[in-house]
Amino acid sequence: MQIGIDKIGFYTSNLYVDMAELAQARNEEVGKYLVGIGQSKMAVIPPSQDIVTLAANAAARILSPIDKEAIDLVIVATESGIDNSKAAAVYVANLLGLSHQIRAVEMKEACYAATAALQLAKGHIALNPNKKALIIGADIARYGLKTKGEPTQGGGAVAMLVAKDPQILALDAEASYYSKDIMDFWRPLGHSEAMVDGKFSTNVYLDFFNQVFSAYSQKTKRTVEDFGALLFHLPYTKQGLKGLRQAVAHADEATQARLLAQFEFAREYNRNVGNLYTGSLYLSLLSLLENSQDLVAGQRLGLYSYGSGAQAEFFSGILQPGFQDALIGHQELLAHRKQVSVAEYEQFYQSVLANEANRQLEVSADPGQFVLAGVKDFKRQYQRQE
Ligand code: CAA
Repeated sequence: MQIGIDKIGFYTSNLYVDMAELAQARNEEVGKYLVGIGQSKMAVIPPSQDIVTLAANAAARILSPIDKEAIDLVIVATESGIDNSKAAAVYVANLLGLSHQIRAVEMKEACYAATAALQLAKGHIALNPNKKALIIGADIARYGLKTKGEPTQGGGAVAMLVAKDPQILALDAEASYYSKDIMDFWRPLGHSEAMVDGKFSTNVYLDFFNQVFSAYSQKTKRTVEDFGALLFHLPYTKQGLKGLRQAVAHADEATQARLLAQFEFAREYNRNVGNLYTGSLYLSLLSLLENSQDLVAGQRLGLYSYGSGAQAEFFSGILQPGFQDALIGHQELLAHRKQVSVAEYEQFYQSVLANEANRQLEVSADPGQFVLAGVKDFKRQYQRQE
């Protein structure tokens, strides 16, 4: 039985800041942000969106009533959780109107956890072939204003429906993983911004790629030549390019050209959204699927998942016949966003809901189907808009 990604959807806010303007405001060369970091636009997440609403908005775009009936497992992977106890998946399942006969949990290991969730879902469907699992990676990346990490912020959610006989990508049985306790990026309890050893993190990302890719190659006897495209976790798109260059360093010219060309499609959405931590690898998958014209059913895609702290995994899947018909298209969502100035972005950044007992939020300007309307007695108030 084939198991894998049956549907995939993405959501981010309707606001962005232009990276050239941000570079100028920070007295950096524009080329550093656009080319050196590889980002053109950065999603600005208003207080009326948090990981729960981003997740629900992403999932609502892809789920049919039949899917909703079949779902009995919901996992929200996030490192921007809104509660130390209650799982975001419980809120999301309620907003989506899912059955009560489900398992709903939250998973955490930095940017990696959605991959663990996907693999768990595969096992779940193997045991329950008539069921479906909803896996969502939802995050808001925050490093702080005027920090080195600032141009690598962003936010959004990617929702994936996992099922047997998937329409898009059937996951291969083989995967390789690697875990080691290191401090490259972390967010202590009570902190709303990440701490990061930036340069160290970029090197560990590449080292871990070598670890998991060589283990995968040993196990499967596959080399980079066997892939139609290689996909990377994209904290910012230049980092994935570095990973890809390392991967293809000894490949033949045709393979190098093919994989580098596909990477440009795979980074298109991420370049215009920024980092969404758990969702970034899957946004890159979506970007490739919806923008590349050269993909063919039967091709194998390789995926590199990395979460600081650190955990990595390399896994793969086969593109399914007619996969294009299962894609809903996200170009319009990104094209119809509104640009905000650097000053407005800073205001949004500072007005995010913190540890407050009561506050009402302005939601009228937010076009999301699901919004955060405020907090009452420390209880978040979610709202569905028509
Ligand atoms: N034109 C073109 N390129 C330019 C340029 C110009 N005018 N000026 C500078 N550059 C290039 C630099 O040469 C450099 O390129 P290389 O990386 O190829 O050397 C690039 O722009 C970045 O410049 P700096 O190294 O000077 O950048 P920085 O010191 O300001 O910080 C950073 C960069 C470390 C990535 C920082 O943004 C950061 O800490 N980000 C958060 C951490 C992160 O994303 N780590 C990634 C791995 S960890 C992970 O993947 C998990 C996760 O999601 C966080």
